[in-house]
Amino acid sequence: MSLKIAVFISGRGSNLNAIIQAIADKRLDATIQCVVSNDAEAPGLLIAKQHGIETFALDHKGMKRVEHERVILEHLKTYEIDYIVLAGYMRVISPSFLKQWHDERGYFKVVNIHPSLLPSFPGVSGYEDAFNYGVKVSGVTVHLVDEEVDRGIILAQEPFPRFPDDTLQTFCARGLSVEHALYPAVLQQIAKEGIRLTPKKTKVESKK
Ligand code: GRF
Repeated sequence: MSLKIAVFISGRGSNLNAIIQAIADKRLDATIQCVVSNDAEAPGLLIAKQHGIETFALDHKGMKRVEHERVILEHLKTYEIDYIVLAGYMRVISPSFLKQWHDERGYFKVVNIHPSLLPSFPGVSGYEDAFNYGVKVSGVTVHLVDEEVDRGIILAQEPFPRFPDDTLQTFCARGLSVEHALYPAVLQQIAKEGIRLTPKKTKVESKK
């Protein structure tokens, strides 16, 4: 099916741009119904506008989380939307919001991209934390969002190397280019097959 999505951003919007390009190149069968931001100055909003995509910006400052989310939800109800796609959205989404956005199995129809191989390096500075830790391999994770931050079911992961002469900048740039390929590819998989889940636990038979 063709996926109808709302993309949530807070900043530069390079993943939004990658999704827009993938749709234009027909690598992703989707329509961006609306781009939502909690920051009216987010540069990514300009990318959306340049492509004729509707935007909705609502600054969260001075607003209670519940009220901020309520207004966004009200706005989203004016579109048909299958999935909310978080692309650098720097706000934690509350369980009460998530509960209004689930599939028939109870999984929240909200996906996120995180700049590390979760469960390592959750939080707002995945690349920096992994780099400063001294990892030799890092990566990118696309996951379903649930009530716990950066803990939802993993849909896809892609590793990338850290080279000895990397600076934080070259390391982040490598990761970001992985993100730009991975996120549209995972969204396309959702468009084609829906959410396919890998069982989390397997029973190990004990040898006698
Ligand atoms: C990306 O690194 C993403 O993984 C993280 O926030 C950053 C957003 O970058 N969640 P951009 O706004 O898509 O350029």
